[in-house]
Amino acid sequence: MHKRPLPAFDKHSDQKTEFFMAASHQLKSPVAIVQWCLQSVLEDSALDPANRKMLSRALAQSNAMSSLLSDMLNVFRLMHGSETALVPVDVNHVLDQVVELYKPVAERQHVRLMVGPIETLPHVLADDAYLKQAIINLVDNAIKYSNEKGKVQIEAAYAKGRISISVADSGIGIADVDQGRLFKEFFRTEVAREKTHDGTGLGLTLVRHIAERFGGDITFTSELGKGTTFVLTLPAQK
Ligand SMILES: Nc1ncnc2c1ncn2[C@@H]1O[C@H](COP(=O)(O)OP(=O)(O)OP(=O)(O)O)[C@@H](O)[C@H]1O
Ligand SMILES: [Mg+2]
Repeated sequence: MHKRPLPAFDKHSDQKTEFFMAASHQLKSPVAIVQWCLQSVLEDSALDPANRKMLSRALAQSNAMSSLLSDMLNVFRLMHGSETALVPVDVNHVLDQVVELYKPVAERQHVRLMVGPIETLPHVLADDAYLKQAIINLVDNAIKYSNEKGKVQIEAAYAKGRISISVADSGIGIADVDQGRLFKEFFRTEVAREKTHDGTGLGLTLVRHIAERFGGDITFTSELGKGTTFVLTLPAQK
């Protein structure tokens, strides 16, 4: 089971964070304009197939850049510590939303998405967009790093004032030597990079910051070639 404290922030790194946050924010608008222009040109049915292919690639890359910028901004926001308003969040509802969102993704990848047992959970004090993002990142990974005909199982339970959400897969797994670096920004295992280019290595960094922001934590167990289970734990609202 892996859990390490997040690095402490010093003044110098806070200044760097502010700089990167401003830079990422400034980049969002031009990237959105590039996406919009490419989408508009691609709507032209008379487009030559070779050009269509090139423009589609450009659009896919600009979509990836846009989601990278959003992830970076979210990491910076969470690191920078500006307070998030905490409200009671219905975790069962968030789980339902994520499952609905990912059913078609799992189907496309020929992965069985199994849900349950899921207990009726007490609310948690959190921000529902961030909480949803954390669960999405875990389910997204579980499906992405599964093999064809693999199985992903989502469960949720409540005990001793804490709720735990587990996402288990029978996928590629994580080698022991990589396990200590998993939550580090931009880290991706070699096996994952061989499997897909789709990923920046920020998803788990975000999950960790989100969990800690709401007083919870994230742990995992994994065996290379066998599968991985992540468990997100959060305190229930008193
Ligand atoms: N369920 C999993 N099974 C195997 N490896 C995993 C799993 N989840 C995460 N990993 C490993 O941890 C790395 C970091 O995960 P993370 O979600 O941060 O990044 P990513 O999926 O590569 O990209 P993205 O930022 O788009 O989520 C992955 O690249 C992969 O090597
Ligand atoms: Mg990911």
